[in-house]
Amino acid sequence: MTFLGVAGWPVAHSLSPVMHNAALAAVGLSDWRYLALPLPPERFAETVRALPAAGFRGLNATIPHKAAALAVADAATPTAAAIGAANTLTFERGGAIVADNTDAPGLLEALPLEIAGISALVLGAGGAARAAVYALLHAGAADVMVWNRTRERAERLVADLGGRVVDVPQSATLVLNTTSVGLRDTDAPFKSLPLQADTLGVGSYVADMVYRPGGTPLLAEAKRRGATVVSGLEILLAQGAASFERWTDMTAPRDAMRGAVHRTPEP
Ligand code: ATR
Repeated sequence: MTFLGVAGWPVAHSLSPVMHNAALAAVGLSDWRYLALPLPPERFAETVRALPAAGFRGLNATIPHKAAALAVADAATPTAAAIGAANTLTFERGGAIVADNTDAPGLLEALPLEIAGISALVLGAGGAARAAVYALLHAGAADVMVWNRTRERAERLVADLGGRVVDVPQSATLVLNTTSVGLRDTDAPFKSLPLQADTLGVGSYVADMVYRPGGTPLLAEAKRRGATVVSGLEILLAQGAASFERWTDMTAPRDAMRGAVHRTPEP
């Protein structure tokens, strides 16, 4: 048996196991399994170091482990090192742990527009926002505005990666929500985030890293106004496909993965 997994705290809500197990089945890797590993932060590093001997080939890291995943690795790709966070660890045959960040290329794959020359507004300044700003700037975005509830965090992000901090954003071709606003039923994105619904219309693109049953209120409103919307499930799928390819050296069966995440009622 060869194992893959996702470490998070909590991790029960993750759709990665159902998505990756569908992928493994679709490509015929019948003796591979992808597991959810609930790991408290204080157990992360020691557990990860023990995984290769237990038959693991790779691990996804999610909240709150993405910085720790980079720190535990023996080597990192330039992308993970620049972003300062890793969502993908690969256990190489010689025992080395290699960190990568597939959130950045995954986001670019999921976005259905040419990024070169566009203006983008990134909401949030956590790990997901860092990957997004890195990806957008590397793809040639002309103007990347970063807004965060806590301004100092946005300032740190911009100092590390580029873009510019905004308090009152101007409208942008692409609006990307990386905050957790929208996750709970009671969330009101147009109150918590500096967005005006009437700026989201035909010709604009709105992407939400949050996914939840029935979609998020931000995307529902953006769609109603004629914007092109990108669901967090598509972003999840694209980063997962890139991780899968890294571990298996096979092309990820994206249709099987998409089918699995759309079939599964989110908890
Ligand atoms: P991740 O690694 O997934 O990006 P994170 O580092 O916990 O997660 O970041 C969460 C983001 O959501 C932050 O930008 C946070 O803003 P703060 O830096 O001010 O905490 C943002 N966020 C969470 N709840 C929010 C709310 N109610 N309104 C606005 N922003 C919120």
